[in-house]
Amino acid sequence: MSKKFPDFIPPTKVSYLVERGGPTIHLRRCILQSVDDPTREWAFEKEEIRIGSMEDNDIVLHDDTVSRYHCRIAQDETGYVLYDNRSTNGTFVNKVRIREAFLKPGCIVAVGQSQLRFNAREEEVQIVPSNEKRLAGLIGGNARMREIYSIIEKIAPTATTVVIDGETGTGKEVVAQAIHSLSPRSRNELVVFDCGAVPPNLIESELFGHEKGSFTGAVMTRTGLFEQADGGTLFLDELGELPIDLQPKLLRVLEQREVRRVGSTKAQKVDVRIIAATNRNLEDEVKAGRFRQDLFYRLSVVRLHLPSLKDRLDDVPLLVQHFLDHGFYNKAADGKTLRVRKVSREAATALQNYPWPGNVRELVNVIERSVSFADSSSATTSSSCSGATRATSRTPRAPRTSTASTSAS
Ligand SMILES: Nc1ncnc2c1ncn2[C@@H]1O[C@H](COP(=O)(O)OP(=O)(O)OP(=O)(O)O)[C@@H](O)[C@H]1O
Ligand SMILES: [Mg+2]
Repeated sequence: MSKKFPDFIPPTKVSYLVERGGPTIHLRRCILQSVDDPTREWAFEKEEIRIGSMEDNDIVLHDDTVSRYHCRIAQDETGYVLYDNRSTNGTFVNKVRIREAFLKPGCIVAVGQSQLRFNAREEEVQIVPSNEKRLAGLIGGNARMREIYSIIEKIAPTATTVVIDGETGTGKEVVAQAIHSLSPRSRNELVVFDCGAVPPNLIESELFGHEKGSFTGAVMTRTGLFEQADGGTLFLDELGELPIDLQPKLLRVLEQREVRRVGSTKAQKVDVRIIAATNRNLEDEVKAGRFRQDLFYRLSVVRLHLPSLKDRLDDVPLLVQHFLDHGFYNKAADGKTLRVRKVSREAATALQNYPWPGNVRELVNVIERSVSFADSSSATTSSSCSGATRATSRTPRAPRTSTASTSAS
């Protein structure tokens, strides 16, 4: 592509590098600068930039000759593309009226009376941990979690592919949901596909769809998950389980942005952001020949590693309180009152001293079980704490009985 069209700028690329001074993100941003007033500059790493006279545009131009939603710049795999939105007075690139045009560095986009110079700039952004203790369903104030919140906030608005890894139960799916919900794609669906839960021979038709009669049992035409996720996000869970013979097909979709249903000769354009999760070490999988290196590189634009709960035990009290406050299992018959409001000091200590091999999922289960054991009619009395006591022995065995004891309800 670059040989054929040397002027084209590849779209925003985010690369995540862990360096000594903390993680940094390399971002390619689109810059628009007013030709008349160079101090007016807009920088974006978003997938789409809207220009017009209405206040909800990304660039608002107060000018009678500018339509309400005049034009937009979108990024696709080939570069930045400017689209005119059927504006009254037209959109121009270097004085040529356009309906749709690739933008090359330094070109002048004219919208009404305004002239904007287009450029793209590489930037290295140091990640500063967020000050928040939660982000879109994710709970935890540990520094590593706060760093992840900052990265999520930076990358969510872009279309970049993300691979999330971490032990089981560390919250990989919650992170995928957070990225989707903070992105402009949240208007459309987040489609989840578990590569480990579907028989290998059915994965291809699940992902890409199939035409009627394309194989025995294909009695009807079926749209695949890529088509369902068009405009939204596809979360590929347990990516390490994807059979090696299907990996080139996934790579092809990622590169060409089009899918072909099984049994069809026609390819169809799709606009899907991919988030993948794995609890396997993908580098090891590549070395062992079970995961293709080209797909690994294509997917690993941004890698997020979620810490194990034992490495952020300081978050246990916050998580426990969150699960007590929001768990459906902790609601009394009226659906509102909490059956257990907090855990006793003894139980809290026990919970914070347990190594949690099943991570946050195990903690959720322990809280749910404990609440069901709690005596709701006399919630001020302590329920059994034997599980918590056992937990303090630091055996990697999950506490079996009630860990949370109740106090003032
Ligand atoms: N940081 C967090 N804040 C709040 N809840 C969390 C957090 N992390 C995990 N959870 C909860 O823990 C449970 C497990 O999370 P999730 O399913 O995202 O884990 P996972 O990493 O995808 O696990 P697996 O590898 O087994 O699929 C869910 O109930 C989720 O809501
Ligand atoms: Mg999961």
